Amino acid sequence: MEKVVVSLGGSVLVPGDDDARYLRSLAGLLRDVSVRVKLFVVTGGGRIARYYIETGRSLGIGERTLDEFGIAVTRLNARLLAAALAGRANREPATTYAEAAKLARRHPIVVMAGTRPGHTTDRVSASLARFVHAARIVNATSVAGVYTTDPRKDPKARLLERVTFRDLIDLAGKGHAAAGPSIVFDPVAARVVARDRTPLSVVYGRDPVALRSAILGQPFRGTLVVD
Ligand code: UTP
Repeated sequence: MEKVVVSLGGSVLVPGDDDARYLRSLAGLLRDVSVRVKLFVVTGGGRIARYYIETGRSLGIGERTLDEFGIAVTRLNARLLAAALAGRANREPATTYAEAAKLARRHPIVVMAGTRPGHTTDRVSASLARFVHAARIVNATSVAGVYTTDPRKDPKARLLERVTFRDLIDLAGKGHAAAGPSIVFDPVAARVVARDRTPLSVVYGRDPVALRSAILGQPFRGTLVVD
């Protein structure tokens, strides 16, 4: 069975917009596709992680501790998703890639979250994809793909249907500098997928048609990042 890693942004999972309804339909979608592909889902932290990080930073707390706050929230989000998946996934998110690979023998869907300070869950997804030899990574995010400019700020932003790994690295900019929000795909993670040549599909995570197609390796609305 093909292995697929889904990097599920916290901004998609729990933005505070009818999240229970979304989670229920997402769980149904993941259950459906999990009979055709082996799924590894890595959850991000979203606005709740940002809240803790920003509040902590205002208190003068160091970056490493702020990253640990972020990790804790990504793990809580993973537990929420795991509970919504009712029996199809491990309850406690995997803490290492080896543990995720092992859990995949017993569960159709493996949930994972943040691991160590200094990076994001996109990076966890990229390294996990390498470890399990995933066929592709699907980045389920809050925008419909990679754009020429930031679509939330620029009405003229154009969706790019296909970009190269090189373009992705150029668009992603520099590495993880501080805890908190980032662009569409973490720059360090972009380098990992480029090195491994793991195809990356960027989709709007709340578009079930795009998400399902991207997971199954079918044409989808979004951006395909390949060589
Ligand atoms: P996210 O993966 O959600 O990162 O982790 P992000 O890019 O800030 O969030 P989105 O995609 O815009 O929603 C949240 C924070 O948790 C810490 C980092 O501080 C990160 O910014 N974190 C996460 C780690 O330090 N290590 C990890 O493995 C994961």
